[in-house]
Amino acid sequence: MELTKRPRRLRGSETLRKMVRETRMDKSSLIYPMFVTEGENVQEEIPSMEGQYRYSIDRMPWKLERLERAGVSAVMLFGIPGHKDSVGSGAYDPDGIVQRALREAKKRFPDIYYVTDVCMCEYTSHGHCGVICDHDVDNDETLKLLAKTALSHVEAGADMVAPSDMMDGRVAAIREILDKNGYIKTPIMSYAVKYASAFYGPFRDAAASAPAFGDRKTYQMDFHNRREAMKEALLDVEEGADILMVKPAMSYLDIVSQVAQATNVPIATYSVSGEYAMVKAAAKMGWIDEERIISEMAVANYRAGAQIYITYFAEELAALMDEGRIG
Ligand code: PBG
Repeated sequence: MELTKRPRRLRGSETLRKMVRETRMDKSSLIYPMFVTEGENVQEEIPSMEGQYRYSIDRMPWKLERLERAGVSAVMLFGIPGHKDSVGSGAYDPDGIVQRALREAKKRFPDIYYVTDVCMCEYTSHGHCGVICDHDVDNDETLKLLAKTALSHVEAGADMVAPSDMMDGRVAAIREILDKNGYIKTPIMSYAVKYASAFYGPFRDAAASAPAFGDRKTYQMDFHNRREAMKEALLDVEEGADILMVKPAMSYLDIVSQVAQATNVPIATYSVSGEYAMVKAAAKMGWIDEERIISEMAVANYRAGAQIYITYFAEELAALMDEGRIG
């Protein structure tokens, strides 16, 4: 055979394969999503997310310490309030669950970078991501509350805010209130391209935030659409988003790739609760190799164009990177 081009040549040894690798991972790109709840001495496992817990503020250090030791430097906080009402007042209460958790965590773990999820659904009695008017979420009324929520997070110490509600104009509204209050340096990571997805099922379990009526399809995106993702991404960049997120991750890597090419801001992907639950369940059955699967899933996100990877497997991935088993 006179074959001059032999792609297998570069696959001949682990050293060579590593040398020519196109995608490399680094722990500094990981963000760990974490649930904080009211009460004391609470560390409740989330039934559909084995290995993930709701922590009361006094128990957060257990996980924060582990993350720090593993080299995961950023977390994203989600609050589960003791009380929900129709206007989600717990979301923007200066003494709300996230605000108190932030103050405490910043004091004890000042080197961790704190991102907060800005949304109403964990705080509203009806479970929707905003205030309701005529059986639908009222966009413009909700913007005021989201802006207030973001400001209260930053005042409590958040390093970055991440609005996940999918209201039109929220990035601009949040940028405006932060700037007015002098927080010109605080970045916004927008859940710019967020699909209405069944992959959020276990999260809604975790946060008891499933909508009491209807669904989220009047604000979250229809997963049949790709070009609409560009519309959302470009709008958010125009409104001042510093980082764009695509969510879910695994089934949406075509979108990640296209958003990465269409914009010049960093891209984050969120491997959501349903992705986590599927891996855990199949691994428990002995049907897949959990470590290899989570590595492959992570690499695929970076390969598609992500710079930031938000994942419940952050600690595990960091350990695998340390051991040189992925990278
Ligand atoms: C809040 C929010 C959700 C998730 C992140 N922020 C739930 C939803 O939109 O229903 C999902 C995260 C996950 O599934 O891991 N709006």
